[in-house]
Amino acid sequence: MARRPLVMGNWKLNGSKAFTKELIAGLKAELAGVEGCDVAIAPPVMYLAEAEAALAGSAIALGSQNVDVNVQGAFTGDISTAMLKDFGAKYIIIGHSERRTYHKESDEFVAQKFGALKEAGLVPVLCIGESEAENEAGKTEEVCARQIDAVINALGVEAFNGAVIAYEPIWAIGTGKSATPAQAQAVHAFIRGHIAAKSQAVADQVIIQYGGSVNDANAAELFTQPDIDGALVGGASLKAPAFAVIVKAAAKAKN
Ligand code: PGA
Repeated sequence: MARRPLVMGNWKLNGSKAFTKELIAGLKAELAGVEGCDVAIAPPVMYLAEAEAALAGSAIALGSQNVDVNVQGAFTGDISTAMLKDFGAKYIIIGHSERRTYHKESDEFVAQKFGALKEAGLVPVLCIGESEAENEAGKTEEVCARQIDAVINALGVEAFNGAVIAYEPIWAIGTGKSATPAQAQAVHAFIRGHIAAKSQAVADQVIIQYGGSVNDANAAELFTQPDIDGALVGGASLKAPAFAVIVKAAAKAKN
């Protein structure tokens, strides 16, 4: 089954009002007329208003890097699904390794966020992936299965209908050391197979992005792999020309 690729930019803790407007203007220019790939950006929530305005009339979707499980009330510092919807955000990153590590987010908490997003009609982009030590210990599949199973156990496998998984080996994030296409494909095939064991139909449609040092030089080769349905891009998403090369590579490889 043909899956439409998704390339998403994760800006992390970078930018300003001016940067947001400038980068989006650059992306709109670079990506005009490019078809066959869904594109999204996740600026810091602080700049969603600027991003929403700058994206008007463009096919680039808006996203966010995080969300809380609560919808409103006494939850200081948190951002709800309703607030994200208010700004037209669609793709919401959850479970990024930086949040799992620095904010001690557990598999169960991330699964709760997944449920909150589904309930709100938003698209979860569930980040999973192993650390370098887990990789060296041969635990990659075990870690990925555990992180996926937290969602399946809480919500059922059908929750992955219309959802996105980003396989991001932690050792590849921001290190310049991407997984090789063959390494990534093997894990992606495992992830899809793990979901297929519960539902082939769900597994066939779920988008599995690769993330971790994807750039304009290595993207095309990664996208030749059958189970790599796009990319979650950090550093290279902060420059319009590099990000556009990645989007165009996905559009070309998957159509
Ligand atoms: P990177 O980040 O592309 O800078 O490695 C990817 C991510 O953390 O989503």
